[in-house]
Amino acid sequence: MRNERGLVIWLTGLSGAGKTTIAHALSERLQTAGYKVEILDGDVVRQHFSKGLGFSKEDRIENIRRVAYVAHLLARNGIVVIVALISPYREGRNYARHLISNFVEVYVKCPLNVLIERDVKGLYAKALRGEIPNFTGISDPYEPPENPEVIVETDKETVQESVNKIWQALEDLGYLSNDRISDAGFVAVRR
Ligand code: ADX
Repeated sequence: MRNERGLVIWLTGLSGAGKTTIAHALSERLQTAGYKVEILDGDVVRQHFSKGLGFSKEDRIENIRRVAYVAHLLARNGIVVIVALISPYREGRNYARHLISNFVEVYVKCPLNVLIERDVKGLYAKALRGEIPNFTGISDPYEPPENPEVIVETDKETVQESVNKIWQALEDLGYLSNDRISDAGFVAVRR
């Protein structure tokens, strides 16, 4: 079956758009359905194997290359990998897409003015004051995906609505198994 090879759900979008929140909600739903899931999140990854990398174009692409490689290894072994990285450059995301056979790109979209207003981490205010150089969306580019498998709009949708959209796309793309033991009351066979 196709999903036994695992897959990579790649969330891209600006800082604060909701990638981490969606990653965790999606992970829970997948785990409840019996899938093995791993999350590779930018903030966490950068404390471990991408420690020392900065935010220049070269370093961001290097970050993506490393994450893509690990995601590829995990997916090859049947894990559903959820990547949550700004991954602002098409070049980086295309590298990941070519390396990984089961690749689902999700554009986590939110207008900049909403993010500046929310500013959960206080980073936009700092970036606007010029205290963070190369800050994505303010003083550094973000290249929106041209052909993502899914677009979620976090200023208009609840987290559950965004997760439902991704779930539906995974089903439509044939990545989720429909094999459930129906008379046992919706039990996923993969557990
Ligand atoms: S990526 O561009 O290399 O994909 P990544 O997702 O790993 O970025 O890290 C983004 C996180 O780093 C942001 O959510 C934010 O907390 C922090 N950060 C620190 N400096 C910057 C910056 N200059 N641009 C964007 N994010 C930054």
